[in-house]
Amino acid sequence: QKLQMSLDQIEKGGYEHFMLKEIHEQPKAITDTFRGRMLAEDNIIKMSSIELNLDKFLNANRIIIVACGTSWHAGLVGEYLFEDMARIPVEVEYASEFRYRNPIITNKDIVIAISQSGETADTLAAIKLAKSKGAFVYGICNVVGSSIARETHAGAYTHAGPEIGVASTKAFTTQITVLTLIALKLGKANGSLADHTFKNYLKKMQLIPKQVEELLNIDEHVKQISAVYKDAKNCLYLGRGFNFPVALEGALKLKEISYIHAEGYPAAEMKHGPIALIDENMPIFVIATNRGHYEKVVSNIQEIKSRAGKIIAVVTEGDTTVKEIADHVIEIPDTEEALTPLLTTIPFQLLSYHIAVMLNKNVDQPRNLAKSVTVE
Ligand code: G6P
Repeated sequence: QKLQMSLDQIEKGGYEHFMLKEIHEQPKAITDTFRGRMLAEDNIIKMSSIELNLDKFLNANRIIIVACGTSWHAGLVGEYLFEDMARIPVEVEYASEFRYRNPIITNKDIVIAISQSGETADTLAAIKLAKSKGAFVYGICNVVGSSIARETHAGAYTHAGPEIGVASTKAFTTQITVLTLIALKLGKANGSLADHTFKNYLKKMQLIPKQVEELLNIDEHVKQISAVYKDAKNCLYLGRGFNFPVALEGALKLKEISYIHAEGYPAAEMKHGPIALIDENMPIFVIATNRGHYEKVVSNIQEIKSRAGKIIAVVTEGDTTVKEIADHVIEIPDTEEALTPLLTTIPFQLLSYHIAVMLNKNVDQPRNLAKSVTVE
């Protein structure tokens, strides 16, 4: 028993929980995902799995991304990235829906399956179905040699290292990292991205691990905010564009480990329903980065304010407008809007973590949840 305890502590590397350790590992995990691929000095992205299949990617009618849970959220970010950078139409599907709906797939389609574990039953079944219809299937997995990694025609590993906490953190940011690299590479290859734009993205991408590290210093500030809202019964997460999926993921993190009901919504959709829930007891987490539909989000924030909702805003460093309206602000370093999900997601991970700890919940092994779901 004693030996077990100490092994456990060693594995947690001085952190109280695996989740916190994994949150803090993100600068390194993203750097590992870059390694050998992001050659910013030479102005190239090297990914042999894309290069070897470049014709397929460049001639594809569309890309269909299939995944479950947090990986599905990463897929949604992928949709915004691929369409913006490479101008390839993308659909993102829950693997469980896709596999049972007699989907239309042809040999001109590329299916990208995203899975941390590489073992999720629905995702695996979706891959088999897509293959049987002649699609080229590309995998983005974390676990090396996993079933999905073996079942796909080609793929890229995320290199996040083992993720133990059931609530996914570093797997999510490294999935987005891989998707960004692919989107940039394809955008460059098919001419959708001008050389200087591509170059600028590489420059900004390279700064991300350092920026995540810097951002992790907000831990104490986020902890204070967590203490204020830990007893909330309902929370709303709002974002637009690239940060809409981050809102979904923020809400999922809170649900998973603190058991507080939370919903993520595209900010503009708020008025079609969730706005009815807003009162002085409702915390609303809003992502309002400086380049992404900023004015629109500010007006959404004003709508919340006029209904007495509590506003916790994630803003870009130096923001002044939102600061005046929001109850709390959390600042992220400046980057291109397309790259902000890698930063905006960090405060939400920390927030969920602290709230769950304050509520005495089992952070690493929340009730009813499994790290990998190998049955339907
Ligand atoms: C489970 C896990 C989630 C994960 C999802 C998909 O629900 O608890 O954290 O996002 O499965 O798992 P995968 O391994 O396919 O990414």
